[in-house]
Amino acid sequence: MALFLLVGGAVGGPGLALREVAREARALTLGGILGARDVFANLRLRAERGRAFSAADAGEAAWRRAARGRRGRLAVVTGANAGVGLALAQLLTARGVHVILGCRSPERGRAALAAVRAAARGGARAELLALDLCDGRSVHAFSRAVRARCGHHRPLDLVVANAGVMATPWARTPGAPAAVAGGAPGPPLGGLESQWAANFAGHFLLVRLLWPALGADARVLLLSSVAHHGGFRPDELRRLAADCAPRAPRAPTAPAARGAHRYSPYAAYKRSKWAMAALAPELQRRAATGAQVVCAVHPGLVDTALAFGFFRRFVPAPLLRPLQSALLRTPADAARAVLAALALPPETAAGAYVVDGRVERADRVIVRSAAARAAVWDVASAHVGLPAGTG
Ligand SMILES: NC(=O)c1ccc[n+]([C@@H]2O[C@H](COP(=O)([O-])OP(=O)(O)OC[C@H]3O[C@@H](n4cnc5c(N)ncnc54)[C@H](OP(=O)(O)O)[C@@H]3O)[C@@H](O)[C@H]2O)c1
Repeated sequence: MALFLLVGGAVGGPGLALREVAREARALTLGGILGARDVFANLRLRAERGRAFSAADAGEAAWRRAARGRRGRLAVVTGANAGVGLALAQLLTARGVHVILGCRSPERGRAALAAVRAAARGGARAELLALDLCDGRSVHAFSRAVRARCGHHRPLDLVVANAGVMATPWARTPGAPAAVAGGAPGPPLGGLESQWAANFAGHFLLVRLLWPALGADARVLLLSSVAHHGGFRPDELRRLAADCAPRAPRAPTAPAARGAHRYSPYAAYKRSKWAMAALAPELQRRAATGAQVVCAVHPGLVDTALAFGFFRRFVPAPLLRPLQSALLRTPADAARAVLAALALPPETAAGAYVVDGRVERADRVIVRSAAARAAVWDVASAHVGLPAGTG
């Protein structure tokens, strides 16, 4: 990412909003430096023609075979109509996994389902269910529908919490916050900063609702990002509470008000991805009832609409396409990178932050501060209208 910003900053010309670059560049910090490292990983991957994932593919195949005797594995992929999510749905169905695609747009969802079936050459077991992670009712309805498909002989084997948005302008989800709506509980996920809701809180609610349906050796993969590094500061919880407080006047809409509020789109993205990385060890700790494994996964830097939407703010249009396809990995390679987490032994993967099938050190606050992880759990529980309790 830092590389893109440098190139963009150097050749951006008069149209480039330098103040915006400076503000966002501050938010990039360590994540940006590590992002440059990811670009080199992509170049190596391309040179090796994806061989880096061969061993992980074999490990993931073993995880699938362990379900023999049942009707195969059952998986949920959120945001399965585009980018990494679509590639994941295609890869999993092609390998014989029954995939439930969670998509917020019926049209885009139907097109994705057709693409998934086409990729599996008729053998696909895939279905589409509506899911908007910014809408609590939708998350509840989706979870009920998934649970109705599961049972003792048909547990849920895999949840990939993939859907996401990046560095979007200030927006709130509709409704008042669940826990602070003047005494009466508002709708779950109501009144939240939208990146927090789509990337983290919606998935937090989904995973907690689906937890009882998980099989004994199920895996939950939470899509985080290299951007999570440094995405949380001690004042973040206070600011998060302010962002989500019911007093709308603090919610800026005009650019000037946005400056006063100091909403940084990229900082909000980092925060949501920090929370995903922190959720892995916290959920693993609280739900220590079975052999289920939760881990956070960074998919690498990937050539998708999400990356395009972000980098086009800094890189001139003629350079963007060639740069993206030269430096970023394909969604198919990213999907293999995500599933490489399934090849890790449970004791290694549990609560870990995984990149290309290897456990990496997460942000140091996540590693060191159990109190910060627990505090985010409590805030998120209030946002989704669930008791903090256990997993
Ligand atoms: N691309 C990268 O370089 C990169 C790097 C690190 C991490 N990641 C993470 O990888 C994940 C996938 O990203 P991507 O690059 O594949 O992005 P993408 O191509 O933009 O796809 C994002 C998907 O999420 C869905 N989505 C967004 N908001 C949603 C909501 N409220 N409810 C339900 N679905 C929603 C989108 O649906 P619509 O089509 O309806 O918008 C789309 O299907 C994200 O979590 C992202 O943060 C990506």
